[in-house]
Amino acid sequence: MHLHLKNNISLKDYNTFGIDVKAMHLAEAESEESLRNLLLQIKSTQTPLMILGGGSNVLLMDDYSGWVILNKLKGIRIVSETDDTVLVKAGSGEVWHHLVLWSVERNLGGIENLSLIPGSVGAAPIQNIGAYGVELKNSFHSLEAMEIASGNIHTFTNEACKFGYRNSVFKNEHKGKYVITSVVLELKKNPLFNTTYGAIQSELQKQGNNKLSVKAISDAVIAIRRSKLPDPAQIGNAGSFFKNPEISKEAFETVFKNHPEMVHYPGADGKIKIAAGWMIEQCGWKGYRKGDAGCHVNQALVLVNYGNATGRDIYNLAMEIKSSVKNKFGVEIEPEVNLIGTAT
Ligand code: FAD
Ligand code: EPU
Repeated sequence: MHLHLKNNISLKDYNTFGIDVKAMHLAEAESEESLRNLLLQIKSTQTPLMILGGGSNVLLMDDYSGWVILNKLKGIRIVSETDDTVLVKAGSGEVWHHLVLWSVERNLGGIENLSLIPGSVGAAPIQNIGAYGVELKNSFHSLEAMEIASGNIHTFTNEACKFGYRNSVFKNEHKGKYVITSVVLELKKNPLFNTTYGAIQSELQKQGNNKLSVKAISDAVIAIRRSKLPDPAQIGNAGSFFKNPEISKEAFETVFKNHPEMVHYPGADGKIKIAAGWMIEQCGWKGYRKGDAGCHVNQALVLVNYGNATGRDIYNLAMEIKSSVKNKFGVEIEPEVNLIGTAT
């Protein structure tokens, strides 16, 4: 059994916001067997538990009086192949971008637009990660997850995951009930590339790449991301703090009348998606800083920790931003980041 157990330890190095809270216990799970044993052991003590991959989509608000399990379930292998597709199975503790690079090296398409998204493979289905016109669900085949209560492994198909915009069954009815242990993707040998996001086209031209390929798109996405988003190694952050809200066409028409320059796109089910970053910038938050909590200078949707902000500092700033957006536009914005704490 591979359990590296630590007690009363700071989680600062385990979350990309760099929030310095303590966990009562921290353990690493390197195999399904060690994970199952750990879950059974924790169950017998009736303490809470939290799974962490890269910690790139959490805001830790308080010391955690329970177990934090770091996911280290590794391995990438091809499980089957046809003339057009390859099914690839990855351990949930693999770094997501390593899996992307693995597919780029083999010229397998589907996830190149999702290059450089931080975090683990196992967290990718939780919010159906997305970027530059593509979502995980477009290449997702199935996953295996260990039920926390029983230690049994269940398989979830694409349909069973009920993927939506930054959403899945694991954020709703199955929240906190499973540990995702592996993910199977269906990658394409002759992919149709998605260059709908304008900046990809201009970046490809800039790089002198006039022939589309898995690698060219991945390189373009990496360059765009590096130019736009803050690197957590330099400034603590968890990517977009809020989701882009989706509202009905009727509600949108009312808001749009007063704000005809509002940035918006077609959303799911006939709804309209509004760029939350645009609204936050219009409210004057872009570049704002209070203590060590701030709103990023280049991307207003990203909240940042300049060093010693607490989870509460970031949370309080987020709530101020949320209410000013509501006051100015009448639109509710909701956090994308998972808020972990006692009084959220
Ligand atoms: P963690 O933060 O460790 O966990 C997130 C949540 O999932 C937690 O609630 C955790 O308990 C749960 N969880 C984690 N692993 C498991 C598991 N194996 N089983 C069950 N539950 C689990 N996201 C996008 O969609 N698109 C982007 O373009 C994007 N850009 C980003 C850019 C930056 C700079 C940063 C910092 C973040 C960005 N994100 C983006 C958010 C983040 O990268 C993703 O949400 C990612 O999937 C989180 O992975 P993680 O392993 O770090 O998850
Ligand atoms: N905008 C502003 N001011 C800002 C930021 C954005 O006006 O400060 C406007 C711009 O007009 C821009 C539009 O908002 O055209 C959209 O901005 P951008 O293309 O940067 O995308 P986003 O909506 O801010 C979303 C995802 C990102 C993903 C990018 C690229 C969400 C919540 N965020 O950001 O995902 O990488 O698109 O596809 O959907 C994440 O989830 O953590 C994340 C970074």
